[in-house]
Formats: sequence, C-alpha cells, structure tokens
Amino acid sequence: MAQPRILILGAPGAGKGTQSAKISEEFDVEHVTTGDALRANKDMDISEMDTEYDTAREYMDRGELVPDAVVNAIVDEALSQADGFVLDGYPRNIEQAKELEGMTDLDVVLSLDVSEEELVHRLTGRRMDPETGDIYHLEYNPPEDPAVEARLEQRDDDTEETVKERLRVYRENTKPVIDHYESVGVLERIDGEQSPDEVWTDVEATIEDAA
Ligand code: AP5
Repeated sequence: MAQPRILILGAPGAGKGTQSAKISEEFDVEHVTTGDALRANKDMDISEMDTEYDTAREYMDRGELVPDAVVNAIVDEALSQADGFVLDGYPRNIEQAKELEGMTDLDVVLSLDVSEEELVHRLTGRRMDPETGDIYHLEYNPPEDPAVEARLEQRDDDTEETVKERLRVYRENTKPVIDHYESVGVLERIDGEQSPDEVWTDVEATIEDAA
C-alpha cells in the first residue's frame, strides 16, 4: 500500500484523537480532524450557508452536529491535499458517509469500541495543553511537568451535561454509520477499553495487515 487512507470511528472519548496522533506519526500520514478544524474556526460566520445558528461554536457548545455543508467542505479540501491520511470525526451521519464515498477510497476502517460509562469518565477528566495541543487525562495520563499541569484547559464541550448530549447524538446519528461499514464487511473492531498502548498495538497491527 502507498500511504494508507485510514478512517477511525468511535464515540466521543473513545480515543480517536489519541490513536490518530500515533497513526499520523508512525505511518507518516496527515491527521484530518473535523473537531480540531472546527475548534480553530469556531466563531467564523456560517450564516450564509442557511444554517440555524450563525457560528460552529453554537452547535458545538450544545453538543450538536455542525451542519453537513460546513463539515463536508472542510473534509473535501483537506483530503484533496493529502496522499495518505487518518480521518477522525467524520463521517458522523449517513449523509456524510455518502459524501465521503464521492471524495475518496479507504484502505482501512477502524472502530474503537468503549462502554458508555467509561466514555463519560474519560471526557470529563480530559484536559488539553493549549500550547502544544497534547491531550491528557487527570487520572489516566496526567502530565509529568508541573508547568504543563498548571496551564491545562478543559474543552468547553467536556462538561457532564454536554457530554450526555454528545453521546445521545452519537447513538442517533453516528452509530448507524459504524453499523453501515460493518454491514458491508470493511469494519475492523478494536477493543478501545484497553490501555492506550494496548489499543495502539492492535491499531498498528490492523493497519499493517491491510497493507
Ligand atoms: P470532536 O472533536 O470530533 O469530538 P468527539 O468525536 O466527540 O471526540 P473527542 O475528541 O471528544 O474524543 P476522542 O475519541 O478523540 O478521544 P480522545 O483521544 O481525546 O467533535 C467535537 C464537536 O465538533 C462535535 O460535538 C460536533 O459539534 C462538531 N463536529 C466534529 N465533527 C463533525 C462532523 N463530522 N459533523 C458535524 N459536526 C462535527 O480521548 C479522550 C480522553 O480519554 C483523553 O483524556 C485521553 O487522554 C483519554 N484516553 C484516550 N484513550 C484512552 C485509553 N485507551 N485509556 C484511558 N484513557 C484514554
């Protein structure tokens, strides 16, 4: 396989960002993430696209999906510039999955499977380093450097109330996407409830097997 085209699926907090960073580094592919792209442009005026709210922030802070037209354009642009990639955060509904089919072929489709109780624990304990973008967890993966610990920030949508809404949106919209890839026989399920290193061992082996 030339540079692999990898799709990583999973619920909020399943570890997509954590594993995608490793995949990007080890397989030398672009990390295309709709969540980070939207967070970087949260306050951009999207009202011209005939949307209910005027900015992505208003959808994200409620735990709702940003309208397809906004997200499709981000992914189309990013994939057109990447030979290999790991795509994280998209597609999140069946309409986006159909859109993706018109943009690219995929070599590997991974699903990180984690129970809902564990997802809530991971998301409410997640912290980010605003200087490096590195992801930590207060209990599972705290930073060693006290200076890093002091500057950690919580994502606006990682409060308990918004997390519940994000999981509801996931069950309603994104789980059917995972079921779709499973029904066409391309889905590789990974036990995402293991430690990050154990998950990585399975992720790496699955991508290498597809090569
Ligand atoms: P997005 O940023 O994509 O968030 P998400 O899918 O909800 O996923 P997360 O980033 O929260 O979790 P993750 O799976 O990456 O987990 P992580 O590795 O950080 O989307 C945010 C919002 O943007 C959406 O709600 C929506 O509004 C909008 N949006 C994005 N894409 C869209 C689209 N396509 N269409 C429409 N709207 C869109 O890990 C979580 C925590 O657990 C961390 O603290 C980590 O350290 C820890 N951890 C990770 N792995 C393990 C492990 N194995 N064991 C223990 N702890 C672990």
